Amino acid sequence: MELTLALRKIYGNANVVASDLREENELLKGTGPYVSLDVMNNEMLHVQVIRQNFTQVYLLAAILSATGEKNPGLAWHLNMQSLLNVLNIAKEEKLKKVYWPSSIAVFGPTSPKQNCPQQTIIEPTTVYGISKYAGEFWCNYYHLKYGVDIRSLRYPGLISYKSAPGGGTTDYAIEIFQDALEEKKYVCSLKADTQLPMMYMPDAIRATIELMEAPTEKISVRTSYNVSAMSFSPKEIAAEIKKYIPDFVMEYKPDYRQAIAESWPQNIDDSVARKDWGWKEEYNLAAMTKDMLENLMK
Ligand SMILES: NC(=O)c1ccc[n+]([C@@H]2O[C@H](COP(=O)([O-])OP(=O)(O)OC[C@H]3O[C@@H](n4cnc5c(N)ncnc54)[C@H](O)[C@@H]3O)[C@@H](O)[C@H]2O)c1
Repeated sequence: MELTLALRKIYGNANVVASDLREENELLKGTGPYVSLDVMNNEMLHVQVIRQNFTQVYLLAAILSATGEKNPGLAWHLNMQSLLNVLNIAKEEKLKKVYWPSSIAVFGPTSPKQNCPQQTIIEPTTVYGISKYAGEFWCNYYHLKYGVDIRSLRYPGLISYKSAPGGGTTDYAIEIFQDALEEKKYVCSLKADTQLPMMYMPDAIRATIELMEAPTEKISVRTSYNVSAMSFSPKEIAAEIKKYIPDFVMEYKPDYRQAIAESWPQNIDDSVARKDWGWKEEYNLAAMTKDMLENLMK
């Protein structure tokens, strides 16, 4: 939803068609065209691409890490088949560009925990991570073999005040703000010291658009780029929120998401993205917390 609005600002409202299985998001209504579509329905997807003369596709549909563990078969099927559908259509219809996000979930317990590099041991232990890792290599394959200009970022946990969390392991870092304002209390699904890489949504949107607008010769990675902005633990974000809401209390009840979080790196080395197309974040934990609380209070 937020990416759609950002793309409409660049390309014009009528030139960006939003799509989802669900009904149109309230915040999108009246801002441009919307098509209700199941991305698994290859024929319908292909018809839409031809009929509407699409030149680029941003494929964001997926089942995320925590939800994926509850239904591994469905997560694998959706995350893989949707990508293959789009890649095949991109190849046949000679689309100009395709965007598909990967995730830090490609990394696993054997990857370096600190400054996890672009190229390293990658042995994911969640079905979501396996699907993203396989997807990265399909992207690379379609680029090498068929010249599809597909670009990808390994997003860390994304934090936004506009969109509800989507079933990821980092959902706590979104829910905490609403609960802090409304209840002055939050029960966290991860342990207090669990450090994870995170990014504020305006940075994620800007990273996506900057990658997609970069000249082709600047793109050296056709699997997926590491990108990072900040890393923090539940204890650290709670302390930051307490600066604005002094009587805020955090409780910890780690659940199945703790094991997923512990399998991931604590922070990411994104020097290749910085070097290739000039990535630089704007928001750290303090700036994000201030902006989140100000906007949620509005
Ligand atoms: N949110 C994060 O922290 C994060 C981190 C890393 C990577 N990512 C990736 O970014 C992308 C977007 O994530 P998000 O947080 O917006 O997820 P989300 O769950 O909020 O949104 C996914 C959307 O896909 C739609 N969808 C599901 N099945 C569909 C189908 N068959 N056809 C059409 N639409 C379908 C859902 O209705 C939903 O609106 C995903 O690929 C995700 O893996 C997200």
